[in-house]
Order: sequence, then C-alpha cells, then structure tokens
Amino acid sequence: MTAVASPLEVSSPPGPEARFAERVRGLVESRYGYAPKDAAMPSFQASLEQHRAGRAMEAYWQLLLRSGSAGAGNDLQELVELLLNHDTTCGRTPPHFDVMRERILPESVRKGRPLRIASLGCSTGEEAYTLALTALEVAGPHARPAVEIVGLDLSARALTVARAGVYPASSLRDLTPARRELGFTRSPGGFQVRPELSRLVRFIQHNLMSPLPLVGIDAIFCQNVLIYFSPSSANVVLGHIRNALAPGGWLFLGPTESAHRQREWFLPVAFAETLAYSRR
Ligand SMILES: C[S@@+](CC[C@H](N)C(=O)[O-])C[C@H]1O[C@@H](n2cnc3c(N)ncnc32)[C@H](O)[C@@H]1O
Repeated sequence: MTAVASPLEVSSPPGPEARFAERVRGLVESRYGYAPKDAAMPSFQASLEQHRAGRAMEAYWQLLLRSGSAGAGNDLQELVELLLNHDTTCGRTPPHFDVMRERILPESVRKGRPLRIASLGCSTGEEAYTLALTALEVAGPHARPAVEIVGLDLSARALTVARAGVYPASSLRDLTPARRELGFTRSPGGFQVRPELSRLVRFIQHNLMSPLPLVGIDAIFCQNVLIYFSPSSANVVLGHIRNALAPGGWLFLGPTESAHRQREWFLPVAFAETLAYSRR
C-alpha cells in the first residue's frame, strides 16, 4: 500500500516574493534590530510588496541597501515605518511608575538635583509625559526642575504626534480623573499635554541599534521595544543602555522582557509588584 502524505506534510518551496521577504528581513534586522517573527512574515511580505509597488526586486533591493547614505533616498526607513508597532498609553505598567513615585523621584528631590530620565522607543510620547506627570506629583510645580526627560524613537511619524502632545481619551484611559486633570487640558483634538509637563520633555529621532546620544542617565524606560528584537540585537541595545546609564541607574523593561542574561551589567531588584534593573 502506498503511503499518501497528508496535506499538512506537503509544503511547497517558498516563491520569489517569500524569498525576497526573507532577505529584506535580514537587512531590516541588521540595521534596526527589529526582526519580524516567522508568524508575522506574511504581513511583513504584504507590507514589503506594498512598498515595492511593482518595482523590480533587484533594483528595489539596491535602493534599500543604499538607503540613508549620501545622495540616496530613505526607502528602508520608509519601509520600516510601515512595520513598526506604536501601541502605547499613558501610565502603561503602573508598578514601574509606582517605583518612580515612591522610591526614585523622592530620593532625587531630597538630594536637590534633577533626575535625568530617558524613554527609549517612546512612540507617540505617552510614556515620557507620564514620567513628567509623576515627577510633578512628587516634586510639585515649584520644585522645578525635578526631571529632564528625553524620549527617543526611530519613527518620525510617531515623534510628530509626541511633540504635538494631543491625545484621544483612549490614550489616557489608565489615568485617574485627577491625574488626567493635572496633566492635560481638553482640546479640539482630545486632550492636550499641559506646558508644566511638556517643558520637562524633549524628543529625539534615534535608532536604538546605534550608541545612545546620552550619558549619565538616572533611569531608562525601555518597555515593549526589545520584544520585537532578535536576542542578539536586544543585546546590542542593552549594551548601549548600560553605557548611557549612570552607575546605580535604573532600567525598566516591559513585563515580558528581561536583562537576566546580562547579569554582569545589571542587577535585578525586586519591588512590591515588579522587577527593575540597577546598573552595576
Ligand atoms: C510598542 S511601542 C512601545 C511604546 C512604549 N515604550 C510603551 O511601552 O508603551 C515600540 C516603539 O519602539 C520603536 N522602535 C522600534 N525599533 C526601534 C529602533 N531600532 N530604534 C528606535 N525605536 C524603535 C517603535 O517605533 C515604537 O514606537
């Protein structure tokens, strides 16, 4: 009797578009760290085909390779803009802001020096403004400057939203009414960040695969960013974070991310409801 392969066992070899998508995935990962998982490859391929817009594969590949160099366009960055996930809200991961409010900010207020904080992969800015809000709550409006906050992201589009500081109500859903009132005023587009917060925050476009343009930072939030990176790229970013943090400075990662493999760089410290990392 001849064995018949079930349909699940028969897999046709990848077509030219799928092979091309694999090649581009490698390029995107080496430049930006972002590495779509296998399950996300069909949507990666669809975005790629949309951006290639019928151009010949080899000619398009050359454009991507030259992208960003003098005289060339920025096709690779434009492609990556289509892929990035900018999901965020104000006050995401409340226990991290609790540690800032109860432990780290009061210490710096006592020492009378501003705390330098960075939000890496800041997206549309909600995390950076929540840090400013938390500082305002701890130090009060007259104890300025309690903090200097810098938000970094690769995406020019996300940073345009961040600088404008106007959000729909859904972005503020995790804030209590009192906190929302302290940080925002109603505006035609939703809720506008108050100047008391925006003057504490600035934004810079930056690729996290490059060394950070920052030194002596007291606390770095890098939440829900490395989850999209391959392990080796995440390691590169953690090395840059280490170099930018002051000794004893704090690192906060997203709930499903960790720096456990970098024990020689970071000491995990348990708080009531979360874990943070202190630079050794
Ligand atoms: C899901 S959002 C996280 C936003 C925020 N940190 C939070 O947890 O709510 C991930 C952000 O990382 C940014 N990102 C991804 N790769 C990056 C890179 N290589 N350099 C800088 N930012 C990057 C994306 O543009 C996106 O805005």
